[in-house]
This record gives sequence, C-alpha cells and structure tokens, in this order.
Amino acid sequence: MALRVCVTGAAGQIAYSLLYSVAKGDVFGKDQPIILTLLDIAPMMEVLKGVVMELQDCALPILQEVIATADEREAFTDIDVAMLVGAMPRREGMERKDLLKANAKIFQSQGKSLDQYAKKTVKVVVVGNPANTNALIAMKCAPSIPKENFSCLTRLDQNRAKSQIAGKCSVPTSAVKNVTIWGNHSSTQFPDAMHAVVVKDGKDLKATEAVNDDAWLKGDFITTVQKRGAAVIAARKLSSAMSAAKAICDHVRDWVQGTPDGEWVSMGVISDGNSYGVPEGLIYSFPVKLSGGKWTIVDGLSIDAFAREKMDLTAKELAEERDAAFEFIGN
Ligand code: NAD
Ligand code: LMR
Repeated sequence: MALRVCVTGAAGQIAYSLLYSVAKGDVFGKDQPIILTLLDIAPMMEVLKGVVMELQDCALPILQEVIATADEREAFTDIDVAMLVGAMPRREGMERKDLLKANAKIFQSQGKSLDQYAKKTVKVVVVGNPANTNALIAMKCAPSIPKENFSCLTRLDQNRAKSQIAGKCSVPTSAVKNVTIWGNHSSTQFPDAMHAVVVKDGKDLKATEAVNDDAWLKGDFITTVQKRGAAVIAARKLSSAMSAAKAICDHVRDWVQGTPDGEWVSMGVISDGNSYGVPEGLIYSFPVKLSGGKWTIVDGLSIDAFAREKMDLTAKELAEERDAAFEFIGN
C-alpha cells in the first residue's frame, strides 16, 4: 500500500531538494510506493505547479500520485508522515527567537488540521524555525495524536558535528558515531562528542582520544556547529537547503527503518521530566534509539559539570520560547 507523505513549504528551497530524495526512495525504501501531498500558500501555487511538473518529469517508479494544494485539509487527510518545512526562514542578523511570532500561528493552524485530518499514527517532523517550539505548538494543538509522534529536526546539527569530527580526525564521516545534540536547534544547542566513537584503523576509539584536543572539543567544535546555520546564511544569503533536506531524509528514514545496533541519533522529542534533568514538556533534542517506528531516549550517559551547564542553558531558552509562543497563540 502507498504511504501518504505530506511536505509543507513545498514550493520553497528545502523542498526542492527534499522532494526528489523522498520520491526516489531514500526515506521509505526503493520499493515502497508513495503519494505526495504538497502544501504551500495560495500565492505559491503557480510555482508549485512547476515543481509538480518536474517531479512528473523525473519518471520515478515509486511515486504514485502528487497532490498540490493550499488547503490544509486536502494536504493532511489520512497522511502517514508530515514533513512540516513551510515557514518564514531566518534572514541575516535574525535569531530564531525573532521568527517565533511570524511562525507560531502557522503551526497552531497545522496542528489543528493534523488533529482533524491526519491518521492518528502520523509521524511529524517539524523543520520550520524555531523548530523545537513550533513542534511543541503543533503537538499541543493536536491532542488526539500521541505526543511521541511529534519531533523536530536536529539531525542537521548532528551531521554538521559528525563532519567536523571526521575532518579533524581525517576519517570518513561514516567512521564517526554517537555524536549527540542536546536541546534547542539554535545557537544555544550543545553538540556533545564526549560519548562519541571514531573508527580508526579498524578500531573503535573514544572521540576524545581520536581527536586528542580537549580545547577544540570544548571550544571551536561547539561554536562552529552552533553557528553553522548563521554562517551558511551569511555566505549564501539564504539558509541551508541541500543539507537540511538530507538531514530530514536521515531523520525520517531512521524513525521508520530504525537505528543500527549500538548507535544513536539526535531528535527533538517531548521531554518526560525524567531524562537528564530536562524539565517536562519541552521539545528538547536527546540521543535516541529507534526501533519499530518508536524512539527511546538513550539513558545512563554520564554528564559532567561542563555538559550540565550547557544542557541547562539551552533548556532555559526553550522554556522562554515556549512561554512567548503560548502568549502569541493565546494559549
Ligand atoms: P523558503 O522560504 O525557501 O520556503 C518556505 C516555503 O514555505 C515557501 O514556499 C512559503 O510560501 C511556504 N509557506 C509559508 N507559510 C506556509 C504555510 N502556512 N503553509 C505552507 N507553506 C507555507 O524556506 P526554506 O529555506 O525552505 O526553509 C523553510 C524553513 O526551514 C525555515 O523556517 C528555515 O528557517 C527552516 N530550516 C530549518 C532547519 C533545521 O535544521 N531545523 C534547517 C534549515 C532551514
Ligand atoms: C540552519 O540551521 O541552517 C537553519 O536552521 C537555518 C538557520 O536559521 O540557522
């Protein structure tokens, strides 16, 4: 049976890379038929028509049908997966917090529509910024869908961190495992390599040993990853799109197909109040293992004073974003 997959912001720049990867089987498998429902706002329907024509012209064997619409009901009815990309992107000089006001209403409306029209098993990944808080808004507005079905994208940060470590150790990115992103997809996030592993000359080494530069791991490594989104914006005058699309594919593929034994990935998910001292009710990025379409937070990782401070700082920012967002949407 075909999976119904909705992509919002479908006329935008992330979607332009994302749709091709999804429709050729990178996420759900090369043999899994899919129906794409593409949502954007009414003024973008002409552009979206062009995207649909291009998808048709790719002649992709698993793509059964493409529905392009500005109507949330049509886009969300009976969907299995929602990739909520559509929102206003950050421009040069803006912090993600500045986007809250502009984007909170979008996720309020889409949360309500998911509640009404999507399958109760729908898996939702929020990409539009501020991604964690937008995911929280959508989740709150969709009380009939389990909270665990909502997530936000921090996989791009994880991929950035992985690539930095691989470069430092002169190994391919596939040799770096279990880097963790804690907290907000913002400049307060904590990219943490303390539990990561680097495979070098056939041996599993602790990343701290393989890197052998504590000052870098506690300094430039963290700030480079924290500020990478802003660096791309400064260079391209547009926010990251190709790498964001790749990260969305990684995130959803692992959620559906599972993580390899002994490995974890990072996802923004609802905090239960019992994990790593993170307050309950925030969408916070944790290390998770995925199996059978469900995530579980990896427990028992040691947290030192350096990590604790950074994890608390990003939690504090998320609590402030949540309070501001609920004010905007009148909750
Ligand atoms: P873009 O401006 O190129 O495209 C956004 C699209 O969303 C536009 O076509 C716009 O018309 C559409 N849109 C606006 N309101 C909508 C609504 N209510 N319903 C449906 N569609 C709507 O932007 P982009 O570069 O594709 O980025 C999209 C979002 O993703 C931005 O918020 C950006 O900051 C964010 N982003 C997040 C990450 C991450 O890692 N979480 C990474 C990169 C970008
Ligand atoms: C990114 O991380 O590249 C995006 O979230 C864009 C941004 O605003 O930083």
